[in-house]
Amino acid sequence: MKVLQISLLALALGLSGAALAVDIGELTVMCDDCHGPQGASANSDVPTIGGQSTEFIDDSLHSFQIWGRPCIKSLYRYGDTSRPKADMCKVAAGLSDEDITALSSHYGELPFVPASQEFDARRTAQEALGWSVYASAQDGQVKLEITDRDGNPVEVAKLTATLGRATHVKDDQNPDFQFNGQAYVAPAKLGAGNWNIRMVARAQNGTEFTQRVILHVAKG
Ligand code: HEC
Repeated sequence: MKVLQISLLALALGLSGAALAVDIGELTVMCDDCHGPQGASANSDVPTIGGQSTEFIDDSLHSFQIWGRPCIKSLYRYGDTSRPKADMCKVAAGLSDEDITALSSHYGELPFVPASQEFDARRTAQEALGWSVYASAQDGQVKLEITDRDGNPVEVAKLTATLGRATHVKDDQNPDFQFNGQAYVAPAKLGAGNWNIRMVARAQNGTEFTQRVILHVAKG
């Protein structure tokens, strides 16, 4: 409703639509409720975004949109903290290209306030593993292949995974993955279309590895 009122006002005043297309204030309140005031985080598990480069913020938001980066569920730290956990893939899915451009320049212009190094350390540790993950489904089974940098299968110390639709949680299931020497396999009932596997694994060296893997199940 508020948006409609603003656009009517814009029309009445003959303002250009573009200037008002993005309500940056409303968006940044939501971002700051997790990332901290002015995007400066006080929580080790949420990165500081204020004062990062515009290109980095822009790239990150676009890659969250295509799940090119792991998405970790997070609580809201400010405002209404009883809201259910959300993650960057969900947040980014709701942003238009104009929103992303506006957000990137907004946060890019803010001062950078250094905070905890813990988050960066965790991400660096995950990246250092050099793992790739590939999911497929066949004959009532879902298969998760984790390979190292040399393409060899990885057996993890621990693996939990939720298999679900991208759009709703109704069909969420937790496959009981077993390692067969090459890959992790589990029986699963899957309708055709796109599924997500949100995996949390622990490497033998203790490093946590989280990733969302897309699984496409063909018809028939
Ligand atoms: C529910 C909490 C939450 C909300 C809301 C949220 N974020 Fe995030 N954001 C996170 C967490 C947690 C991470 C780090 C985990 C990850 O990479 O998935 C993150 C990561 C990011 C990153 C990557 C930063 C880096 O250093 O790697 C950017 C950029 C970002 N968020 C921007 C935004 C913007 C812009 C908004 C508002 C439109 C927003 N976030 C809303 C929790 C949130």
